[in-house]
Amino acid sequence: MLGATMVARFPTMSRPLRESSNLDRLLAEADRALRTVFAPAEAPDRPSPGAPHPRIEMDDTQRRHVAGLMRINHAGEVCAQALYYGQAAVARDPAVAAHLMQAAREEGDHLAWCESRLAELGSRPSVLNPFWYVGAFAIGAGAGMIGDRLSLGFVVETERQVESHLGEHLTRLPEGDERTRAVLEQMKSDEVEHGANAKARGAMELPWPLPRLMQVAADTLRAVAYRF
Ligand SMILES: [Fe+2]
Ligand SMILES: [Fe+2]
Repeated sequence: MLGATMVARFPTMSRPLRESSNLDRLLAEADRALRTVFAPAEAPDRPSPGAPHPRIEMDDTQRRHVAGLMRINHAGEVCAQALYYGQAAVARDPAVAAHLMQAAREEGDHLAWCESRLAELGSRPSVLNPFWYVGAFAIGAGAGMIGDRLSLGFVVETERQVESHLGEHLTRLPEGDERTRAVLEQMKSDEVEHGANAKARGAMELPWPLPRLMQVAADTLRAVAYRF
């Protein structure tokens, strides 16, 4: 209140205040990006659904294959977080921004589960995660600047594509690897719910060629993150 009165009386004070708030937001985004990409994932709200299942014996080829799949899923979760944070940063409606921030936080469990399964398999996340994060954040912010309904449409399409590739990964797991299967099944069911929530908030259907371009970007990520 005092601040608003001061700014009204002395208009020249508004610019430094605005600049400092923009700088704060920029620093907060940079901090979030660095923590997502370089720091270990925060402890998940829910324990890993794979935890009750025993680790099975795998040969090197199987272990590398499952690690490749989990590296793709981990990179996908990094992208989902970056996309939603990018969208939230420019959302016009505060309720939509809050929904996107919540959606990004909910992906945090998935990120932690994938990270811990990768560690169990003696492997590591994609070395290109900084690149995936920056690309997805830029796409999210670009979509968000066009409008909130399009932004929510991106959430629906992202969740649909993630659900579909998780379904495909479930068919490619070694027999008996219930520890990984349980993680992917829970993620798949969460993604369906995330997509439905965004739809209920008024998401618009993405116009051609956006879904196709997103599919090409996701195919590229899958091909590269499997190995790197
Ligand atoms: Fe997810
Ligand atoms: Fe999701």
